[in-house]
Amino acid sequence: MDWYSEELFCHDLPTKPRPEIGLVLVTGATGYIGGRLVPELLARGYRVRIMVRSSSPEQLERWPDAEIVVGDAMNVAKLRKALEGVSVAFYLIHSMLLGKKEFETMDIQAVTNFRFVAEELKLKRIIYLGGLGKYSSNLSNHLKSRLNVAEILMKSKVPCTNLRAAIIIGSGSASYEIINNLVRNWPVYIIPAWTDTLCQPISIRDVIKYLVGVLELEETAGKSFGICGDDILSYKDMIGTLVKILRKKRLFLNSPLSGIRLYSYITSLLTPVPASIIQCLMEGIKNEVICGSNEISTIIPFKTIGYKASLLRALSREDHDAIYTRWSEAYPPAHSLAMKLYEMEPPPHFISSYSISTDKSARDLYKSICRIGGPEGWFHNNWMWRLRGFIDRILMGVGTSRGRRSESELRINDVIGFWRVEDLIPDKRLLLRAEMKLPGKAWLEFLISPEMQDKNTLWVHAYFQPKGIAGRLYWYNFLPFHFIIFKDLLKQLEIRS
Ligand SMILES: NC(=O)c1ccc[n+]([C@@H]2O[C@H](COP(=O)([O-])OP(=O)(O)OC[C@H]3O[C@@H](n4cnc5c(N)ncnc54)[C@H](OP(=O)(O)O)[C@@H]3O)[C@@H](O)[C@H]2O)c1
Repeated sequence: MDWYSEELFCHDLPTKPRPEIGLVLVTGATGYIGGRLVPELLARGYRVRIMVRSSSPEQLERWPDAEIVVGDAMNVAKLRKALEGVSVAFYLIHSMLLGKKEFETMDIQAVTNFRFVAEELKLKRIIYLGGLGKYSSNLSNHLKSRLNVAEILMKSKVPCTNLRAAIIIGSGSASYEIINNLVRNWPVYIIPAWTDTLCQPISIRDVIKYLVGVLELEETAGKSFGICGDDILSYKDMIGTLVKILRKKRLFLNSPLSGIRLYSYITSLLTPVPASIIQCLMEGIKNEVICGSNEISTIIPFKTIGYKASLLRALSREDHDAIYTRWSEAYPPAHSLAMKLYEMEPPPHFISSYSISTDKSARDLYKSICRIGGPEGWFHNNWMWRLRGFIDRILMGVGTSRGRRSESELRINDVIGFWRVEDLIPDKRLLLRAEMKLPGKAWLEFLISPEMQDKNTLWVHAYFQPKGIAGRLYWYNFLPFHFIIFKDLLKQLEIRS
């Protein structure tokens, strides 16, 4: 399946498209929800502008019919440019990947700037998707931050529609991947008491339908709505439902321990999602998140789906290798790990290079390069990659278990274990940037260059910019491993081409 293809959800939405409302801005389009909203809006005939913090050719390819502007909610001047001429804006900005310490301050500053510019430019409406939950002394920082953002927007002179969701279940969502990986990989669950808290999850398809639905109904302006799926379950039941679907035998044991930090750390070792995100989500588990009134279903009536059906759809998308957006894609460009190879001044001078000459075609070589880190891992010496990933997880890094969005296709910003795709040139180059804990910055480049007489050279270059003496020691320690790993990897890539 082509990785640009997506499943559209809104065909049975009872509201009518209103492209006459003018330019619609989607912020957070590189994120999990925004990335799925954009194709729906385009398919319904809206003029769509997308605000991204850093542009890449992949975005133009992904949304050729949308206008793309570079803007950052932390920068008022850039926001003004992004919001110029906009009629309605979706506010889907979120900074959980920054980690617990930073996201609250950033969320408040971003929304305050956004509201200021939206009022100045007299936007007609803002649509926000936030979280469920009530202000209380034990409300998690993450949910509190979502409520604070909603409050700031609802007080704006620009009418705001505030949608509030609990856990969102869909292929590629962080919550789904945590549950799925726990159930698949772990036979015994030591369950703390807080897993009895109730939650009302919603499927990604219903979230998108509500977002589009409220855009098309003017009377939803100035109002808040809880949006939920059909079932109210405890977190323990949510795991249990998937255990039944996958017909696994799993043992649940009650635990007297309840420390969120401990559980999020252990969960991060067993799933692809890093501890910083899991901790934000788990802190919210102690708060009941259910809809109560279901007012939205009378205003935008359609058949929502239940938890089990949402899981089945997510599993099927995975089976078909058709995950359109994934939690791992949104990544703060200002983060120190986001520095690109070409931006390094001076360029890294620690380089190790290996190559083979082959009569395989550039297309076939490129295809097999694009499969690294998939079901076959790195084809050879997988234990070494896993060990490096495990050490990284112990150090609270991202590890190798993040996996990848699609088994066979890659796009810029996809993750492959502890790497992130920085550049892709079909049949020529794959450049990966390291996101594991390292005493320095590292890149791995696969390059195919033509030789005479229908031959090609396949190169692998490892670049490293060490940080201090620890970085240098790290590099020299790993050089012998490079020899083993890269020589083998090149051979395996050739065999699979
Ligand atoms: N996913 C869920 O399970 C879930 C559940 C309930 C509610 N929600 C709500 O849905 C909304 C969207 O969530 P999501 O899961 O799609 O988030 P996400 O995947 O983490 O994406 C966040 C988006 O915000 C952008 N962003 C962050 N800081 C920014 C800034 N300073 N300026 C401009 N853009 C910035 C990111 O862009 P970059 O690529 O530049 O980083 C990214 O596109 C959030 O309000 C969230 O609370 C989500």
